[in-house]
Amino acid sequence: MITYPKRTHTCGELRATHIGQTVTLTGWVQIRRDLGGLIFVDLRDRYGKTQVVFASQFDEATYEAAKVLRSEFVLSVTGVVAARPAGQENGEMPTGAIEVDIHALSILNKAETPPFAIEEESQAGEDVRLRYRYLDLRRPDMQRNLLLRHRGYQAVRSYYDRNNFVEVETPILMKSTPEGARDFLVPSRFHPGKFYALPQSPQTYKQILMVAGFDRYVQIVKCFRDEDQRADRQLEFTQIDVEMSFVDEDDVIAMTEGCVVEMFPALIDVHVKAPFRRLTYHAAMERYGSDKPDLRVGLAFTNISEAVRNSPFRVFADAVASGGTVSAMVVPDQAAMSRSQIDGLTDLAKAQGAGGLVWLKVQADKVDGSVAKVLGPEATKQLADACGAKAGDLVLIMSGAWSKTLTILGSLRLEVAARLNLIPEGKWEFLWVTDFPLLEYSEEDKRYVAVHHPFTSPKPEDVHLLDTEPLKARARAYDLVLNGNEIAGGSIRIFDSGLQAKMFQLLGIGPEEAQRKFGFMLDAFKYGAPPHGGIAYGFDRLIMLMAGRKSIRDVIAFPKTSSGLSLMDDAPSLVDDRQLQELKIKIDNA
Ligand code: AMO
Repeated sequence: MITYPKRTHTCGELRATHIGQTVTLTGWVQIRRDLGGLIFVDLRDRYGKTQVVFASQFDEATYEAAKVLRSEFVLSVTGVVAARPAGQENGEMPTGAIEVDIHALSILNKAETPPFAIEEESQAGEDVRLRYRYLDLRRPDMQRNLLLRHRGYQAVRSYYDRNNFVEVETPILMKSTPEGARDFLVPSRFHPGKFYALPQSPQTYKQILMVAGFDRYVQIVKCFRDEDQRADRQLEFTQIDVEMSFVDEDDVIAMTEGCVVEMFPALIDVHVKAPFRRLTYHAAMERYGSDKPDLRVGLAFTNISEAVRNSPFRVFADAVASGGTVSAMVVPDQAAMSRSQIDGLTDLAKAQGAGGLVWLKVQADKVDGSVAKVLGPEATKQLADACGAKAGDLVLIMSGAWSKTLTILGSLRLEVAARLNLIPEGKWEFLWVTDFPLLEYSEEDKRYVAVHHPFTSPKPEDVHLLDTEPLKARARAYDLVLNGNEIAGGSIRIFDSGLQAKMFQLLGIGPEEAQRKFGFMLDAFKYGAPPHGGIAYGFDRLIMLMAGRKSIRDVIAFPKTSSGLSLMDDAPSLVDDRQLQELKIKIDNA
């Protein structure tokens, strides 16, 4: 057995107070500088870096041995901590006051030249970083991200434990869940032709745990959704999943706020204040054109439908007459925006299906605008007034169907904010969006679908609408938004079997299908289901924002690419014919 001296300190630990001590460090060679007669090595581990020095006066053989050292070799070194010569201290390094004069070296392993340097800001492309993730994870910024994530788990568990929550693991091999994405399926060898689904969330299980009497449940849990990937979406991601009995919206919201308020200072030294602001879905759309508005940005909209109901500009009048909306965004002090920039915004709106974009430039003595010719100077000025614009402002106006128009104006709001640098750094704007619609109509499936999931309760005062105008019924659902990102979502659930049956009926799920898909849950609900509700946070998204990253891949140890590949281990991959035979699966390569 090869033995080597074990470390006495980490590479981030030594200070001037250690001068004179004999220490052993272990770690990786960050960089080696051979100055002829003196070899300097920065030795790195996850705690930091320490400069170690090889010279013949410390030990001749050791100095000779150090000549072969290269980047990423793994070493154990023993030596005496010394003050750096005057003028050579490095104030940027926590260990920069000292160096270690080495008299014993064990090369524990050699390393090939890495495909990219292990440094703070990697210049390497993401594909290379993912392929060699173990090297990427050696980089200090990635290590900080994973440590932040680790602290996140501890803070969450500690908070919920102190609040009497019980962590219960729910199955990974389960029956299909109703979150609305595509399931990942796992074939059963014992039951050929049958499949498990990987959980899109533990939704059904956590509700059943309420029936089982665990009135406060929490789980940090992997969820799987076969959907298109984005910077804030992965095929597998982590939720902080919570369910509570005998609660209403305010209880779940307050419990969640408590966790967030505790996490932020603990993880990133940022103090946030609860209660967070709340907006209904309707108000969020009307004011910001989004169900997850970024409140770091102003640029709220004004609904000018009433003011333009009889406008000679037919596009506006028609939009109002057909039940649509006309909405204006005032961009302060941007009346000087160039035509080509405005045309760029118009193109962006059109690319999203808008008919066009009306703009006004408010000057001290007149208002210019794309509709000035049709309206004439007086009416154009009145239009600007109705929008609340003042001299120097630019106004962008869109009209048409309510949701589509506001959504497009909402995307222009974010684009304008980005172009004009109106998104402040270091601000944390939390917002609860409440009162979502219960249902939406799927043109593709020609039926209603649940906006959240089929167990979400309608607001009691809206239950009667289920028979008359189901699309007007609002849900007891809430999302938590942070800086324009949806970081959590949940609802108060239906626990009345009659109402649940009605919901299934509206969703076009017949009694037989309901029994087949959710029979186990409906059965459980026959035996005394308590009123309950819950929420799930997107843990990766929360950590991503805290880490100041733009992609959740940066806070996941082994993420997948946007096309769902794991570049390091090459998943998904082909399997042996024998495995397929056992599962009675034939691949149709046609
Ligand atoms: P929902 O589907 O809204 O609710 O998910 C909860 C939160 O999980 C995060 N999230 C994701 N993060 C990364 N990649 C994904 N593909 C992804 N999908 C969702 C979001 C989202 O807010 N069972 C319900 C919760 C409940 O009702 O209690 C649920 O899963 O941040």
